[in-house]
Amino acid sequence: MKILGIETSCDETSASVVENGVRVLSMTTLSSLKRQIKWGGIVPEVAAREQVEAIMPVIEICLEEAKTTIENIDGIAVTRGPGLLGSLLIGVETAKTIAMIKNIPIMGVDHMKGHTYAAFLETKNPPIFPFMALLVSGGHTQIVSCKGHDDIKIIGETRDDSIGEAFDKTARLLGLPYPGGPEISKLAKTVSKTKLRLTRPMINSGDFDFSFSGIKTQVAKVISENIYSKAEIAYEFQESVTDVVVAKLLRASEKYQIKNIVTGGGVAANERLREKVKTTFSSVFETPPIYCTDNGAMIAAYAFFNWKPVPYLDIKADPSLNLEYELR
Ligand code: KG4
Ligand code: ZN
Repeated sequence: MKILGIETSCDETSASVVENGVRVLSMTTLSSLKRQIKWGGIVPEVAAREQVEAIMPVIEICLEEAKTTIENIDGIAVTRGPGLLGSLLIGVETAKTIAMIKNIPIMGVDHMKGHTYAAFLETKNPPIFPFMALLVSGGHTQIVSCKGHDDIKIIGETRDDSIGEAFDKTARLLGLPYPGGPEISKLAKTVSKTKLRLTRPMINSGDFDFSFSGIKTQVAKVISENIYSKAEIAYEFQESVTDVVVAKLLRASEKYQIKNIVTGGGVAANERLREKVKTTFSSVFETPPIYCTDNGAMIAAYAFFNWKPVPYLDIKADPSLNLEYELR
């Protein structure tokens, strides 16, 4: 079964043709990185204006690269939330229009479920149920449990900034360019220890939630004191936030007795985080890096394993769509 996955929840415009949920025949993503560098972040109105122009060419190129045509597509899957309303609407309404005109079955997909399923794409080592997924990016910081297909529940999440935002904002304070994650990681590698000690936010809170908005204030204070080098600050910042996510992931894995761990999202590319996850857990399934960032392939993967088409008029963009919470 060939599914066309469409993802426009934030400011990427991505389409992908995926066969049987795992084989990516093509993936076309219009990245907004250059523009984000210029603005130092995402401007929702600017993103949506660009996406409305990009969506059809992206889909056409994607079908061409998969050496197929829309007539040979068995289903369409589109992200319906959570995300930016203007951006979501472009993907959802485009997908519905194609489904209507070409009479193709369609379903809406929760973006976070898509991230969870990205680990099934193009890998010799697909996740084994039940697993605990750590989803860390510029847009989200969540631990979710996945006990079987479509049995995905939130175990914990950030109460304010995402971990990616913490990387980006700290990088900005240190005078590093956007996106900050890779820059902090690079700078942190130039030292191997420091006397600087930042707090580990909420590490002992007893739940599985996170808070990353306070750490940038600590970093700003440390910078103003002029005692530690930028490299030491980058190093200790990275140690702090990775310690927190790994500690909470470990506690969640113990409490729910789920030992298989999946990692995904842009921050999952962080080498120090990957190292800590691999030394802490014995059964780790990393999402292949190219499927960590927002993409249409993960949306198609989820749809294949949970295929439930609906009348196209029933699909509505929902910016605040949220997974169910696991009982605590
Ligand atoms: O998943 P993503 O590409 O986009 C969304 O936010 O959906 O994630 C982008 C985030 C940015 O905050 C970026 O700084 C961070 O991922 N990031 C990293 C690394 N590579 C990207 N953070 C830490 N270490 C990295 N190596
Ligand atoms: Zn995302």
